[in-house]
Amino acid sequence: MLFPLVRDIRSLSPKNQDVTVRGWVRTRREMKNLVFIEVNDGSSLTGIQCVFDRGGGGNAGAGAGAKEGNTAGTLAALGTGASVEIRGRLVPSPAAGQDVEVAVSEIAVLGPAPAESYPLQKKHHSLEFLREIAHLRARTTTFGAVARVRSNLAFAVHRFFRERGFLYLHTPVITSNDAEGAGAMFRVTTLDPSVKPESGYGGDFFGRAAYLTVSGQLEAETYACALSRVYTFGPAFRAENSNTVRHLAEFWMIEPEMAFASLEDDMDLAEDFLKSLFTAALEDCARDIAFFDKHFSGEHAGKGIAGTLEEAAASRFVRMTYTEAVRELEKAADSFEYRPRWGCDLQSEHEKFLTEKVAGGPVIVTSYPKEIKAFYMKMNDDEKTVRAMDVLVPRLGEIIGGSQREDDPLKLSRRMEELGMKTDNYFWYLDLRRYGSVPHSGFGLGFERLIQYVTGMINIRDVIPYPRAAGQAEF
Ligand code: 4AD
Ligand code: MG
Repeated sequence: MLFPLVRDIRSLSPKNQDVTVRGWVRTRREMKNLVFIEVNDGSSLTGIQCVFDRGGGGNAGAGAGAKEGNTAGTLAALGTGASVEIRGRLVPSPAAGQDVEVAVSEIAVLGPAPAESYPLQKKHHSLEFLREIAHLRARTTTFGAVARVRSNLAFAVHRFFRERGFLYLHTPVITSNDAEGAGAMFRVTTLDPSVKPESGYGGDFFGRAAYLTVSGQLEAETYACALSRVYTFGPAFRAENSNTVRHLAEFWMIEPEMAFASLEDDMDLAEDFLKSLFTAALEDCARDIAFFDKHFSGEHAGKGIAGTLEEAAASRFVRMTYTEAVRELEKAADSFEYRPRWGCDLQSEHEKFLTEKVAGGPVIVTSYPKEIKAFYMKMNDDEKTVRAMDVLVPRLGEIIGGSQREDDPLKLSRRMEELGMKTDNYFWYLDLRRYGSVPHSGFGLGFERLIQYVTGMINIRDVIPYPRAAGQAEF
C-alpha cells in the first residue's frame, strides 16, 4: 500500500489523527524543550513541521532498529538531509503559513546525513554550485519545484493532444537521416574508434552510418499521412557546440504533425498549445509558480512570472512576416550588435527586441528566406521564402519552430538536390508525396525552453535533471 505523502498529510484537516511522516529533514531548530523539525518528501513546495517535546512523552529513537529510549543519539543524528520516519498526531499549528503540524510521539532516523560533509547545509546555495551536485539538488526547494512543474506540464502536453484527437507516436532515437539538414549529429557506432572504416560504415552495426536523432519530424510525417494527427514527445540530440543558456546537446521536444493542415492551422495550434500550457502551469502548479514568481521574476519586468503567463494566455499572439520583422529591426539597427539584414537569420537579440519592444508579448514570425530554413518547408510562390513559422517569446526568443511541409514531390526532390542531399536515402519521405500527398504541417516545441519560460529559470541547465552540453556529461 502506498503511504500518504507530505502533500496529502498537509491537506488533512486536523482531527487529531495519527500520522506518519516520511521524508528528509530540511531544517531543525530548538527552543527550550521543543525541537522543530521541518520534513519534506518532495511532494509539496513546503514540508511539514514536526514538533518534538523533550519533556513530553515522545520517544525519539524507537523503531527502525534504534534502541528504545535512545533519545540523545537520535536527536543528534537528526540534522539537515537525514531521512526520517516520524509518528505523531496532526494538530492545528499556531505558526504562520501552515494549518497543521505534527506533535511527535516517535522519531526514527533511517539514514543520517553527517553535517561535516552533507553539502546542502546552508539555506541558499548558488545555482552554479547546485549544478555541481546535480544528484542532490532535487532536495532543494527550487529544484523540487522545477521537477514538479516539468512533470505536470508533460502531463498537460499529453492531455492537450489527446483531447484533440492526436495519437502519441514513438519515433526512433537511432536514425540514419539528418532531419534538419544541419549536420550537427552524434554518430552511433560499435566500430573500434581507433580503426578508420575502410569502406564506409557498411561493416558497422546497422550496416550504414547511424546517428542519434535531431528530430522525430520526418517519421512523424509518415504517420500523420496515415493517421491524420500525431505527436511525438521524446529526446532530441544536437552536437552544436553552442555554449548558451538556451541550448543543450540533449533536450526534449514535442512535435505535433497534422495532415490536411495549412501554415495558418499550424500557427493556431501552436498558439492554443502554448496558452493551454501556460494555463496548466498556473492552475496545476499554482504553489510552485507562486514560488518562482517571488524568487525568479527578475527578468519578467514588472509583471512577474504569474502575471506574464496570465497575460500571454489571454492575449492574441502578434503575427508578422520575416520581411516585416526585419523592417522593424532596421528602424532600431543601431541598438544591435549584429546588424539586421534581409536574408540573415534572426539573432537572439533581434528575437528579444521583437517580443519585448515591438509586440510586448509572444510573436509568430512567418515566411523566412528559404536559405536559412530546412529543406522540407513548403516554398512560397515568390520562390524566395518558405512557409515557416517560429514562435518567439520575451526573454528567451524562439520557443517553437514549425512549418507547412513541401507536399509536391518534384519541388521537394529538386530542393534536396540543390542542397546536396542524397535523395535515395529519403525515398520513403518522397513516397509520401508520390502517393496520396496532402498538405500537412507541424512544429516542434523545446520542452526545456517552455519550462524556462514558466519558471523564470535563466539557464536551461537548471530545468532538466542532468544537463548534457559540450564538455558536460557527468552523472
Ligand atoms: O526549430 P527546430 O530545430 O525545429 C525542428 O526540429 C523541427 N523538426 C520541428 C518541427 O517542425 N517538427 O527545433 C524546435 C524547437 C526550437 O524552437 C527550440 O525550442 C528547441 O526545439 N530546440 C532546442 N532546445 C534546447 N536545446 C537545443 N539545442 C535546441 N534546439 C532546438
Ligand atoms: Mg528553429
